[in-house]
This record gives sequence, structure tokens and C-alpha cells, in this order.
Amino acid sequence: MTAHEVEPRFRPNGRNWPLLWAYIVECGGSTKSSSASAMAVTAALRGHPGTCFDLDSNMSLTTILGYDETGLKGKKNVLDLLYGTATLDEVALPARYRIGEGYGDDAFALIPNLRIVPGSPAMAGADTAIAEDADRNDWFAEILRSYRGDDTVFYMDFPASYGKMPYSVLRMLDEEDSVIPSIKADPKDVKLVKKLTEELERIRFKNRGRRSVPGRPTLNKMILTGTPTATYKEAPARRATALAEAMYGKVLLPYVRYSADAKKLYEDECPLPILLPNSVPSEDYRKMMTHLGFVNRQA
Ligand SMILES: Nc1ncnc2c1ncn2[C@@H]1O[C@H](COP(=O)(O)OP(=O)(O)OP(=O)(O)O)[C@@H](O)[C@H]1O
Ligand SMILES: [Mg+2]
Repeated sequence: MTAHEVEPRFRPNGRNWPLLWAYIVECGGSTKSSSASAMAVTAALRGHPGTCFDLDSNMSLTTILGYDETGLKGKKNVLDLLYGTATLDEVALPARYRIGEGYGDDAFALIPNLRIVPGSPAMAGADTAIAEDADRNDWFAEILRSYRGDDTVFYMDFPASYGKMPYSVLRMLDEEDSVIPSIKADPKDVKLVKKLTEELERIRFKNRGRRSVPGRPTLNKMILTGTPTATYKEAPARRATALAEAMYGKVLLPYVRYSADAKKLYEDECPLPILLPNSVPSEDYRKMMTHLGFVNRQA
């Protein structure tokens, strides 16, 4: 498929780059990486191409999509994009998951329609790298402006912090794009979303009237995970769900229910929709993507 055949809904205002979905909230272990990977894989399996960006030095997304330290030897990573030493197509790897031992081609199966921009432990210094050279603030803008492909979404997985690196990406979001806090059904997580809305307000204010960047990151989707089920009925999870409904009801996506199995994806180097397709969260992510219009696409 060539770029001009991509559905207009994936190219807002006729621009050349895909929808940007930013999984961000300053809350460790809130399920950002789990949701980013599950949504990207669900859409890809239904025929919607996408690229995942691992912007977190913990490299969770890279691990889930099939690349550990050994698998990444000799490969480029997101730092090459930040420093401008490689192009997106040179850095992005085919997403995959483990099906056997070792690192040969038969140890992995490819996930069709999905690429991963691998992370790096050195991304911990990304804010400093941008502070040292202001031109680096444009790294992401340049990737977007030179993009020529048929991805529907860039799934951006962030660290649990708001610094210069997140800013360099978030300022490129427009209102059709999405800032997506994915949080656990825990009252503490719900309360941390307010600080995200303040940060987005700050970014909009700083970029008001600018023409060279959109500068309108918008919290228009929110994900609540680990919500109560018939067997998981923790009182805090119920309270958090009610609180989120009251504060953010308008942007809440269909819930992702609790499953103790969700923890296994890191040790197995495999995303949840493939590892456990019949688990309740996998079913819920499929419902969510249907709700968002990512239905099965004819080949
Ligand atoms: N639906 C679910 N039910 C229960 N546990 C879940 C669910 N989804 C994810 N988890 C678990 O929550 C933990 C945190 O998830 P994840 O790593 O996605 O969060 P994160 O926000 O990316 O964390 P970090 O800030 O460290 O990057 C993981 O152990 C994951 O397996
Ligand atoms: Mg993460």
C-alpha cells in the first residue's frame, strides 16, 4: 500500500505522518507499556500497520516486542534518532515474540504490520542531551516531517516523568492525536492524572500561536486497567473506578479488567494478545480497539 491510499482518519489535516498516541503519566508501574503493546499488537493483527517507540530507559516495550540486550547487539536504537545519526527506517525493527530458545531466526515469530523502535538504557540521559544542544529538541519533528509510510499510528511509550524528552514529542501532538494515561484502578493512580493535565496545559500555553509545531497535546483517551471482576473485588479498585468515572468519564475507554496473568508478558518476551489471547485483558483490548474503529481490515 502506498502512502496516498492510507485512510484520511489516520492522516489528520492531510499531513504526511500517522496518528500519535502518547502513553504517558508520571506514575511508575501504571500499565503504560502493557496498554501500548496490547493496543498496537491488536491493531496490527487486524491489518492496521503501526510503529512502537520505546522512549523509556527500562526498555519494557522493546522486551515485550521481542528484543533483549543480546538480541539488540549491533542494532541501532532510539538514541540514533535523538542524535540524528540514523533514519526511522534504519532504526525500526520488525516486532516479534519468542517461540524457542536462543537468538536464531527460528527462535522468534514475526508480528505482521508492526515495527519497534528499540529503546536504550542511555535514554535515561535524554533530557540532559536535549538540554546540552537545543537543536535536539527538533529530533521528533524531523522524523515526522520526513516520514513516508503507511502506518496508522505511532505508539509512543514514555518513562514515568515529564522532562525535555517528553516535551519534544508532546509538542508535536495535535487535537486529533491522543495523550493516553493508562493507569491501574488504584485511587493513587487516578489522582496523578491531574498533574498530567497541568503539564499538557503548560505545553499548550508555551506553544500558543506557533506555526511550526502543532503544540496541542490533548488528553482525549484514558485507560483504566485492573478493574474488578467476579473474582477480583478489591475495595480500592472499586473506589478508583468510581473516582475515574466521576473525574474523567468523558474520555475513559472501555475498561481492561484485572488478570494476574498479565505479569507474565515480561518474562515470556511476548505481548499479551499473543501470549494469552483468551485472557480477560486481551478480550478487553480487542473490544477497546473495535470501539476505536480498528476493526478487521480486508487484505
Ligand atoms: N490488566 C492487568 N491486570 C493486572 N495487572 C496488570 C494488567 N495489565 C498490566 N499489569 C501489570 O502491571 C505491571 C505494570 O505494568 P507496565 O509495565 O505496563 O506499567 P508501566 O506504566 O509501563 O511501568 P513503568 O513506569 O515501570 O514503565 C506489570 O507487572 C503488568 O504485568
Ligand atoms: Mg513502561
